[in-house]
Amino acid sequence: MKTIRRIKAVQKILECVRGNRRIAFVPTMGAFHEGHLSLMRKAKHRGDFVVVSLFVNPLQFSPGEDLDIYPRNLNSDKKKGEEMGVDILWIPSAKELFPSPYQTFIQVEKLSQRWEGESRPGHFKGVATIVSKLLQVVSPDYLYLGQKDYQQVRVIQKMVRDLHFKTTVRLVSTIRETDGLAMSSRNGRLSSADRKAAPILYRALQVARKMIRQGERKSQVILEATAALIRSEPRVRIDYMAFCDPETLEPIKHLEKRIVFLAAVKIGAVRLIDNIILKLPGQSQKQNKMH
Ligand code: PAF
Repeated sequence: MKTIRRIKAVQKILECVRGNRRIAFVPTMGAFHEGHLSLMRKAKHRGDFVVVSLFVNPLQFSPGEDLDIYPRNLNSDKKKGEEMGVDILWIPSAKELFPSPYQTFIQVEKLSQRWEGESRPGHFKGVATIVSKLLQVVSPDYLYLGQKDYQQVRVIQKMVRDLHFKTTVRLVSTIRETDGLAMSSRNGRLSSADRKAAPILYRALQVARKMIRQGERKSQVILEATAALIRSEPRVRIDYMAFCDPETLEPIKHLEKRIVFLAAVKIGAVRLIDNIILKLPGQSQKQNKMH
């Protein structure tokens, strides 16, 4: 694995690689956990050459969010990248990525508005801008993203289509701890009492799944039950919970076909998100190729 900082150096290597080799790309903010490793594993499986970027993107954090305390663990990340067979670990500098005075931004309008967009104004503008810049440099055949950040995947996929990036977005299932908590770099900031309370989020998603399996189709009825479950845990506050159309992310009242159940909670100072994609009876197999 080569660790590279400069954009030109990445481009130079990729110029030689491109042609008959498929480039698979995993953008990250580092502090690798099993979730990241599973993205790398999938990238390795399908791609012939794997590029992982590591950049804690200041643009996607609002003032007062956890940018300064976002976990950073470069030595361990390098070791894990090496073990996964990553070909290039690209660690760009903010200075090079955002030449001063920086003025160019990407905004995916409608898909960015609700849910995370409402709770974290400017977040998706920051995500779309950085990912477009990374794609511009790497120009991968495949782009790997984790399902835990479902809205992010949709926003990026829309941007890829709208801006004609020649890449296929691939969605990778969420990796969970044994108690169901979705893996996230932010889990490490939970106090031990909060960590014990956190799996209630996944349990709520499971309750929704069960109610749907048992025939419930009114989203309001399920939302009331799942909200009541989460409220039974006093350490956890609900930010939002919603059944949505998996493409548009618009809320759905009556459940049918494919839906995504999105949820966000706050535990202490830590915000956690999770989701499940549900296929109601009569639908064909879940697709994980998104374009
Ligand atoms: O999901 C993340 O880690 C980040 O939002 C991403 C896609 C690397 C952009 O900074």
